Amino acid sequence: MLRKPVFAANWKMNHGPTDAKAFLRTFLVHYARRTDRSVVFFPPALTMHAVTEALRDRPDIIVGVQNIHWEAKGAFTGELSASIARDAGARMVLVGHSERRHIFGETDEQTGLKCAAVVTAGLTPMLCVGEKLEQRERGEAESVVERQLRAGFAGVQPAQIANALVAYEPVWAIGTGRTALPKDASAMHATVRRVLKELAGDRGAQVPVLYGGSVSRGNVAELVATPGVDGVLVGGASLEADGWATIVRA
Ligand code: PGA
Repeated sequence: MLRKPVFAANWKMNHGPTDAKAFLRTFLVHYARRTDRSVVFFPPALTMHAVTEALRDRPDIIVGVQNIHWEAKGAFTGELSASIARDAGARMVLVGHSERRHIFGETDEQTGLKCAAVVTAGLTPMLCVGEKLEQRERGEAESVVERQLRAGFAGVQPAQIANALVAYEPVWAIGTGRTALPKDASAMHATVRRVLKELAGDRGAQVPVLYGGSVSRGNVAELVATPGVDGVLVGGASLEADGWATIVRA
């Protein structure tokens, strides 16, 4: 089946509400509604309200949060549940981003609890997977990604995995200016697809598998044309409105 390409902006810890409003004023001038692609923004949680307000007339553009806690509610100071995110207008949640895993010590098991909580709240998880440079050099890239996928979706039913998204982001390519070669990205996306089919059967074929890691205006067209790549998850190059509009029109 044909999956439409997904262009997702991960703003990380950038853009407060004021910056976000200015960004979207410019971006919306340059990006008219299109049915042949999906556009997603993951702003900081406190910026989400400004983003959903600015996109009130653009339900084609999806807004999500960058992280949640897996519990539904309770005494977890500083945390955010999936149901709070949904109430605030989020439709999607990033789970297991490499910065969560490697800076904040998030485990495979926790990504599994988070994906399950996201699905229970009626939201869509975008599960991020990817190997570190030393794992790639040891020939472990595929086994690492397979382990992360199986753990991340351990508590999610096959029918619901079909509604999820996956982002393959080699850790050595994030924020470094290095991207995977198309043939390497293609091989890793094929591994992701194989595991998704093992987990969700034919429905695993519906899951968009995005590539992430130093995606830019210069390389986006080649990446989205790479077999098996269904879109991109973009950090640094999503922070400037004109540049991001150029990328989503790729
Ligand atoms: P980058 O980040 O595009 O700045 O490499 C990608 C990501 O972390 O999702």
